[in-house]
Amino acid sequence: MLAERIPDLSKFVEPDRVRREVYTDADIFELEMQRIHERVWIYCGHESQVPKAGDYYTVQVGRQPMLMVRGADGRISVLYNRCPHRGNMMCGDRSGNAGEFFRCSYHAWTFKHDGRLRSIPMGDAAYAGTRWGKNNPDCDMKRASRVENYRGFVFASLAHDGPSLKDFLGKSIVAFDDMCDRSPEGEVEVVPNCFRVIQHSNWKIFLENQLDALHPSVVHQSTGRAAHDVEKRLAKKAKSGEAPLSYHMLSAFATVTIDKWDNFQTINYPYGHCVLTGYMGLRPQDPDTLAYDKIMIKAYGKKRFEEIVGVNIHHVLIYPGLSVQSPLQQLRAVRPLGVDRTLTEIWHFRLKGAPEAIYRRSLAYYNLVNSPATLINADDLENFWKCHQGLASEGGDWVSFGRHFGRDIEKDGHVETGPNMGTSEAPMRGQMKAWAQYMGNGK
Ligand code: FES
Ligand SMILES: [Fe+2]
Repeated sequence: MLAERIPDLSKFVEPDRVRREVYTDADIFELEMQRIHERVWIYCGHESQVPKAGDYYTVQVGRQPMLMVRGADGRISVLYNRCPHRGNMMCGDRSGNAGEFFRCSYHAWTFKHDGRLRSIPMGDAAYAGTRWGKNNPDCDMKRASRVENYRGFVFASLAHDGPSLKDFLGKSIVAFDDMCDRSPEGEVEVVPNCFRVIQHSNWKIFLENQLDALHPSVVHQSTGRAAHDVEKRLAKKAKSGEAPLSYHMLSAFATVTIDKWDNFQTINYPYGHCVLTGYMGLRPQDPDTLAYDKIMIKAYGKKRFEEIVGVNIHHVLIYPGLSVQSPLQQLRAVRPLGVDRTLTEIWHFRLKGAPEAIYRRSLAYYNLVNSPATLINADDLENFWKCHQGLASEGGDWVSFGRHFGRDIEKDGHVETGPNMGTSEAPMRGQMKAWAQYMGNGK
């Protein structure tokens, strides 16, 4: 049907613009699920979400309901959340503990934590001489084709072939290294639970916004100004002459103006991944930070410590499903639900072995900037919804990604924005280039 209406999808993506149907056509959405989300490496969760044997956590990969489960041997499997008998969903709760094995609530088939069939009630009497039994893999819970864990972050791919997780992540792997290295123990653990937000807009609109360095000083200016006013008043009253650091997280939206955002840079990698350099509060000198620095120097030595805290990134986008702000241990996972409905899971992490005050800092950022309770998030959401509404109309056919087009610098297999062009739409161009490559496969 799609092929009849849109015979050549490649005509929908040009280097500096994209047809609106890419965001609004339900058949294109289905194809995206097949060719992108159900093929590439998708983030399932962090291993600390399932610390004990039998712990499971459900997750949507493309259109497939999956679950991540830890076995008695410590290994994590990712399985389809479906009983091979008559298709019953195995786990109806979002998370929990399956006990020593999974037991289907319908006819009591049981399965090991890795999905293999364990028993069927009176199985021998009922199934002797049939095709059904332990020797038939169709009687096992189906497993994700590939599962890999990088520093505790678990990914699954529903395709047998394709690049390894490390090859897929490429340079964007810095998101996980930067996050974990900032812990004196080199590890993070998830803070249960996450915020879940359903956006009434296409999934790509969220991802394109993540490294849109122009929008913060426009969209978030009102919040930034209000926070800045309070920050100045508090600073006047404070003995130290400074307001708490968390005010800065919001006031920066007003004080970092458009021209300053141009000083940052985006570096765009294969597969649509992208890094935004620069970090607004990289090396504060308050007592909490200094105490943390001491612990880190003890753990790593001065030289390695300087390397770790000197990593100059604000944001890493891992296409098509992750937005990571590693210096503050924030991660947002994108789960498309429909052409105009997108679930985002908003997580944050604790640096193992770091002082509580450093954790409170990521919690503050989580609540003030990324949570649904903040005006920052609300203002973004309103624009996402309005963008989707506009794109669904016949008021124009194209979406423009022309900012600083033609001035990107290509080198060593990646694309950098030029000097003082941090607000370039290069990240969106990079994402759509990857999209077109994925969607062109299998034609
Ligand atoms: S559907 Fe699961 S045991 Fe029958
Ligand atoms: Fe924003």
